[in-house]
Amino acid sequence: MSAAVILGAQWGDEGKGKITDLLSEKADVVVRYQGGNNAGHTIVIGDQKFALSLIPSGVLYPTVTPVIGNGVVVDPRWFFEEKATLTKRGVDPSKVKISNNAHLIMPYHRKLDAVIERYLGSAMIGTTKRGIGPAYTDKFARVGIRVQDLFDEKIFMEKLTTSLKLKNKILMKVYNQLPLDIDEIADEYLGYADDLAPHVTDTSLLVYDAVRAGDNVLFEGGQGTLLDIDHGTYPFVTSSNPTAGGAPVGIGIGPTMIDRVIGVAKAYISRVGTGPFPTELHDEIGDKLIDIGGEYGVVTGRRRRCGWLDMVALRYSVRVNGLTDIALTKLDILSHFDTIKVATAYTAEGDRYTEFPRQQGVLYHCVPEYEELPGWNVDISGVTSYDDLPPNARSYIEYIEDHAGVPITTVSVGPGRRATLHR
Ligand code: GDP
Ligand code: IMO
Ligand code: MG
Repeated sequence: MSAAVILGAQWGDEGKGKITDLLSEKADVVVRYQGGNNAGHTIVIGDQKFALSLIPSGVLYPTVTPVIGNGVVVDPRWFFEEKATLTKRGVDPSKVKISNNAHLIMPYHRKLDAVIERYLGSAMIGTTKRGIGPAYTDKFARVGIRVQDLFDEKIFMEKLTTSLKLKNKILMKVYNQLPLDIDEIADEYLGYADDLAPHVTDTSLLVYDAVRAGDNVLFEGGQGTLLDIDHGTYPFVTSSNPTAGGAPVGIGIGPTMIDRVIGVAKAYISRVGTGPFPTELHDEIGDKLIDIGGEYGVVTGRRRRCGWLDMVALRYSVRVNGLTDIALTKLDILSHFDTIKVATAYTAEGDRYTEFPRQQGVLYHCVPEYEELPGWNVDISGVTSYDDLPPNARSYIEYIEDHAGVPITTVSVGPGRRATLHR
């Protein structure tokens, strides 16, 4: 049995796509368990670059069955667009399986996402405006529409009528918007049924059987630990559980079937959208990390906020996910710095914190305590073995490992498949 979760250990964009792609070479099934097309996972193969959003990163291997689990929210319009883009580029997405129980992102979810953000003003989350939050809201309010409903027109229309009536009232009376037309939505969505049918299955059973048969199964998280609805910097989070506990729920298997949890962490840290960020750099070092690191969002093109590695946050991630090991990415970006800082604790209002503060508000006032480590100032993007890294680069990795308390088993030194060191 081999089932591993690959998840973001920080605020997303850690390089989960690259690490999932690497491990997919030996995988049979790759499953997304939460989120939706708010994710932007980049995979670089030679001179080709793929940006995957909803479809699992394993799709690039013909030997892999990519699965969209029940915990994902599916925008069918986006699914077909992503499928068409992949097909045009010579990738075959016909094997993608989608859970019958996954919830659908509807046009009113996208619309609400945009108007709610506008309404929040300075308190906005900075969402991707893909309708993720409103779709999960409906799921938990028990007024969501599931993938399987597309195959029962009567039920679909009943659910749509109930949901849209209220949504239109909210859109018109609260947000001063035009109402959405039920026939237009029904035509569009019921029109997807035939093309979606070959993809839809009981993915819980599919994954269960695969794990039981001894297949190599990967569970690919979207977003990251600090964006988790329960364990992240609420309310500046996404509306799902990217943490490891979200995997069994979002797939429909038991936690005992998972034997490895890999946390992907950048050698520094970034965040898109609003919310507290203790090690954020507002100076030229921050700008340098953004520029050299190419830190611009895959989904929205937004400039990411960047800062030094935060060990308080990384140790938190080890704890709430039960990480077995870490894949450290973008180490090559730090080659351009004479000294590298790592936050080991915070202080706020006279108190010292070595763990994430219990009271969210404190995080805004936290001043990081930094340890300074020497840089290596030499290009490492062509290095192919761990022992060939400069001693200061190895010391940096070993420092993180010691303080995180779990091994760093993979080190990434460039976006491509070959720029990876295994330990
Ligand atoms: P994800 O959402 O976690 O899959 O990450 P993104 O794709 O949003 O952002 C990671 C970015 O870093 C992408 O542009 C990757 O191609 C790139 N990347 C991943 N690993 C490395 C690395 O080790 N070095 C460099 N320079 N780029 C990397
Ligand atoms: P990947 O999988 C980074 C952020 C948004 C916003 C918050 C809520 O590529 O790492 P949402 O649209 O989910 O309701 O937005 O979460 N966010 C991400 N940030 N990487 C992502 O995905 C993200 N997906 C959502 O910027 O702050
Ligand atoms: Mg991303």
